[in-house]
Amino acid sequence: MNTNVSRTEEHEYFNMKIKERVQHFEPIHIQECGEQVCENSMPDFLGHLEKTSELPAVKKENFLKRFVSAAKNSFSDLWSKDMAIDLGTANTLVYMKRKGIVLNEPSVVALRTDVHPKQVLAVGIDAKKMLGKVPDSIVAIRPMQEGVIADFEAAGAMLKHFIKKVCRGPSLLKPRIIVAVPVGISWVERRAVEEAAEQAGAGKIFLIEEPMAAAIGAGLPVTEPRCSMVVDIGGGTADIAVISLAGIVSGKSLRIAGDKMDAAIMRYIKTKYKFIIGEGAAEMIKNSIANAMPDPRHPETAEVKGRDLVSGCPRIITVSSEEVWEAISEHINTIIEAIKAVLEQTPPELSADIVDSGVILTGGVAQIRNLDKFIGNETGVIIKLAEFPLLTVAMGSGKTLDDNRLLHEVMISAGSR
Ligand SMILES: Nc1ncnc2c1ncn2[C@@H]1O[C@H](COP(=O)(O)OP(=O)(O)OP(=O)(O)O)[C@@H](O)[C@H]1O
Ligand SMILES: [Mg+2]
Repeated sequence: MNTNVSRTEEHEYFNMKIKERVQHFEPIHIQECGEQVCENSMPDFLGHLEKTSELPAVKKENFLKRFVSAAKNSFSDLWSKDMAIDLGTANTLVYMKRKGIVLNEPSVVALRTDVHPKQVLAVGIDAKKMLGKVPDSIVAIRPMQEGVIADFEAAGAMLKHFIKKVCRGPSLLKPRIIVAVPVGISWVERRAVEEAAEQAGAGKIFLIEEPMAAAIGAGLPVTEPRCSMVVDIGGGTADIAVISLAGIVSGKSLRIAGDKMDAAIMRYIKTKYKFIIGEGAAEMIKNSIANAMPDPRHPETAEVKGRDLVSGCPRIITVSSEEVWEAISEHINTIIEAIKAVLEQTPPELSADIVDSGVILTGGVAQIRNLDKFIGNETGVIIKLAEFPLLTVAMGSGKTLDDNRLLHEVMISAGSR
């Protein structure tokens, strides 16, 4: 590194380092000289500091103190098993400090029911393969429905399994766990999440609202007096929120999302073709050919296997993206009406920010082709598709885990054993 660099060059160097760290989702910020400096850039920075005469001695001393404290934190991080969990209706993701997202599996559990107590046979990817294909003595269930715990026993078993899977090696402390939950869930629903996490081995448990986590994951300035708006359409819920100064100013959580769209596709095919398909087949069609603005000049189709209701025989039919859109558009329109209602409730000063910065669209269903453009046309605001729609909530919860000040500003409850 050049030893005679100017202050501006120096700041540019740290900004570059920060960007590198942020890309790896491990930002631990230390305020200094009006800049944000990352711990891992400290050794480089100290070397550089030695060689430059521009900063006063007191600043150098300050940096040394901070370096020692950063080193201490890094040591305790080695032992830490703290994690952030996006306990979704369709998928569960786990983020661990310094590692990033370490688990991303379907929220499904397969249980043997002919023994007492019930025995867990498979969890996650392996259990999803069993959905709808198991004998009477086995049930493959999705413990989360419409964003909340529907089967407490199975949700607890699933969490325990996932936590054990990511927590290899010895641990001195019980992990701190942040769990993302839908906006406006009841006290009973919150307690169910906290108890399931406790039983799975959590020490301290923090809850964060999903759209807040999504906004943080998308890099929005949630703690500033500026308005950010997020629409997160997952498997069980569509969460809409306007955020400013680390709080949700207005929002709605609809229990309408990917699962209801899959059911609508099943109903549509049954009515139109007298043909029965499973949930998995409906989801596959939605994810592969759903298009909010299907182009009749370039039709897209998918083959789907199922059972003919008239003959009772298995058969294959072909469905088009226009048909899929016809089946799911009622649900999409309900979500759009809710977005408009939230926009109407938003104070005018904050609406101005939304006009400028637009709305972030995230969650698995956000990946329906042209959905961002369609919602934009219907609402008149700019809709921006998140970079990683399936990961945004987990990334945001993880960033919160890494930043104590942010955690205390945005969490909605903190419990411990
Ligand atoms: N390419 C795609 N196009 C449309 N839908 C998709 C696509 N990929 C995934 N999905 C749907 O997204 C949903 C899962 O999204 P996500 O993982 O964000 O939900 P979740 O977080 O588990 O649920 P929730 O937040 O509602 O509790 C499922 O319904 C899935 O079928
Ligand atoms: Mg979700």
